[in-house]
Amino acid sequence: MLDQRAERKRVAVLISGRGSNMVALIDAAKAADYPAAIVLVLSNNPDAAGLTYAREAGIATVTVDHRPFKENRVAFEQALNAQLQAHRVDLVCLAGFMRLLMPDFVQRWSGRMLNIHPALLPQFKGLHTHRRALEAGVREHGATVHFVVPEMDSGPIVLQASVPVRDNDTEQSLAQRVLEVEHRIYPQALRMVAEGRTKFDPGAAR
Ligand code: GRF
Repeated sequence: MLDQRAERKRVAVLISGRGSNMVALIDAAKAADYPAAIVLVLSNNPDAAGLTYAREAGIATVTVDHRPFKENRVAFEQALNAQLQAHRVDLVCLAGFMRLLMPDFVQRWSGRMLNIHPALLPQFKGLHTHRRALEAGVREHGATVHFVVPEMDSGPIVLQASVPVRDNDTEQSLAQRVLEVEHRIYPQALRMVAEGRTKFDPGAAR
């Protein structure tokens, strides 16, 4: 019988901070039938809390600090890419990774890189999505997993889930409600992509 694990897609999770979505992915990948294995957690921030969790979970961790690279984003991304190659990564999951990636890097991982965004794209691209959702008075908010394309928060959508916005919500209460669905949909979306059930269509709605 074939070793199921050997056929799993090898996934790197890129983080900058807390890493709760990374934890959700690591937990999901513990299931015997999960089609992906988290083989690397990569951070641009040496103090990212998620690194400690990943290390304790026995996953390889690497920090590529962006600061010594200063304005040389190409060199920073070459260093990231070298790590991804060294760990024979098939798929990349951005999970609270707070660096914008340049078109060359995005192109190289086209169709093989996912991001999670805490809003119902195409609404509220960029930062402070919960505050902006409250200010806009929307009744529905949520989270989106999408393929990464050069334009920020704009690639084809793999999965979305919505949550209600309540009258007494604060930025924090809304963020917490959205985070719960993030932790549910990111592992589901990665499963769909790793199984080849969802393929990258560059022409899909932005
Ligand atoms: C999440 O809200 C994610 O959607 C956004 O950044 C946050 C990261 O949180 N891109 P965590 O580090 O996964 O806890």
